[in-house]
Amino acid sequence: MKNSYFKYVVCCFLLIGFSCKNEMKTSKEAQIEQKVDALLKLMTLEEKIGQMSQIRHFEEDADVHITTKFIGSVIHTQGPNPGKTALGWQKRFTELQHKALSTRLGIPLLFAVDAVHGQNTFEGATIFPHNIGLGATQNAELVKQIAAITALESQATGFNWVFAPCIAIPFNEKWGRVYEAFSESTELTEKLTKAAVNGYQGALSEATTVMATAKHFIGDGATDFGIEGGETSLNSEQIQERLLAPYKIAVKENIGAVMASFNTVTGISMHAHKALITDTLKVGMNFDGIVVSDWKGYSRFGKNDIINAGIDVVMAVDGDLEGFQEGVKAGIQDQTVKIARIDDAVKRILRQKFRLGLFENPFPDASLISEIGSKAHRDIARQAVRESLVLLKNEKNVLPLSKEIKKIVVVGEHANSSGLQSGGWTVNWQGTKENYKGASTILDGIKKQSKGEVVYDKDATQKHFDADVAIIVIGEIPYAEFFGDIGHESNQLKLTVTEAHQKYIKTYQEKGIKTVVVLVSGRPLVVTNQIEKSDAFIAAWLLGSEGEGVAEVLFGDFNFSGTLPHSWPKGVKDYQSKYGPNFWDQSKEPLFKFGYGLTY
Ligand code: GLC
Repeated sequence: MKNSYFKYVVCCFLLIGFSCKNEMKTSKEAQIEQKVDALLKLMTLEEKIGQMSQIRHFEEDADVHITTKFIGSVIHTQGPNPGKTALGWQKRFTELQHKALSTRLGIPLLFAVDAVHGQNTFEGATIFPHNIGLGATQNAELVKQIAAITALESQATGFNWVFAPCIAIPFNEKWGRVYEAFSESTELTEKLTKAAVNGYQGALSEATTVMATAKHFIGDGATDFGIEGGETSLNSEQIQERLLAPYKIAVKENIGAVMASFNTVTGISMHAHKALITDTLKVGMNFDGIVVSDWKGYSRFGKNDIINAGIDVVMAVDGDLEGFQEGVKAGIQDQTVKIARIDDAVKRILRQKFRLGLFENPFPDASLISEIGSKAHRDIARQAVRESLVLLKNEKNVLPLSKEIKKIVVVGEHANSSGLQSGGWTVNWQGTKENYKGASTILDGIKKQSKGEVVYDKDATQKHFDADVAIIVIGEIPYAEFFGDIGHESNQLKLTVTEAHQKYIKTYQEKGIKTVVVLVSGRPLVVTNQIEKSDAFIAAWLLGSEGEGVAEVLFGDFNFSGTLPHSWPKGVKDYQSKYGPNFWDQSKEPLFKFGYGLTY
């Protein structure tokens, strides 16, 4: 009797506690809505349009525009850095914030950055494997930790908004942004989206968390033939079934922003797609955050049509600011744009600024700077590297390698370059081929692990044919966006590895030396022949700053645990149709199915 009474009392307390917490949440939200409505009432049309305007910090009149045009958010993209040190970055953004706070209503700025695999615009930050590698880990807890570290290092460099995670479902490996997404699997993407959003945002108002952005809405990775910004000819059922689910998860986890996509869906630009942005996302899914345009979205995708479709913040860069502000004002005057639409956009912007606590704490926290690139952060990144590796072949158990092997030759430029191993969106928009601050290479890791002789043969010309094992690291050069589209006029990229890299393998394999091939790429490539020629073959994706993590698995300190986040193509002919060899197109039998991966 006593026991059940006790349980009853406990349940009552829990119920009271829960309803109080819920009450508190509701009352906090109610308070925010009251503040939003009260502030909106005070705003002039110019101030409202200003809040919808987003500019780069290094634009010529940025400082003046913040005060005279009431700018609502500032971004850092490829271009002059805000400063030389993290404190310098913080100081620059604090300077701009003071300008915003000095305006009539003193509405604080949002500062946004493409921190898509760590705060990758700041050299010295911890750089994690790109999302395709995180998809290979299938480890939601790890993804949440990585997002939280990225948020902290973004705040430490002055940002409170990140344009991440990309939650595309890539249909075709010819697309240049496959690596920015987690997987071809909707279910896996849902799982990791939830983890990432919670990691970036936390409770949203802490000094170490940021507003996240689910992107790019919708169909960015499902364009016909994998063309960035191309036509997505899926019907609404297919969009509902394959693409919308991760956005539903993101909205349920209170994602603060969604970025519109460059592609068209059945001929309509996504930026001007009212049915999907307003009717489906905002109304149907009850999304109350910000829909932000992508690059120069106003002038490129229909001007006031994108505002009427539901875009709230306009990335008014590259000379778009004047056109946007004057154009939308003209729309209000001739009533082709309703003031109610402007008020909805501004309410969403103010709501997020209140949720972020920006009115109380508009400035970055300098005490976070010491944590940028810390050992603790790099340990997590190295764990992610280890768990992202997928073992596709291990003939005669050539792996794990013994640390006593007499002589190992390490081959390939990708073995000795933290830039090449990290891919696009690293230090620069298009990445770098050089070593960058704080990073370790795959070769560094091998030298650390092996007790024998380790020699480096960059282009397989040094004939180390007395080596016992050749570790041959091949892969793609860094690229971002359409520069990575296979078939785009900007590049010579192919679905196969380069002739030179094929030769690296042949040079040592034909001498009968055991060959362990590590592929550094942003996507599955057609390597059927190279796999046949190798004794062991590992997909390492784009692993970020902690190259040492690779050798920790090759030498057996850790086992392989990664599995393929994409089905792996058998041949180039798999790409003749609109989509690649993923399980969406049952007519194609991949070389390896989604989820494949060997272990020791
Ligand atoms: C780019 C990308 C988008 C990025 C934005 C700002 O064009 O499509 O992912 O967030 O511009 O750099």
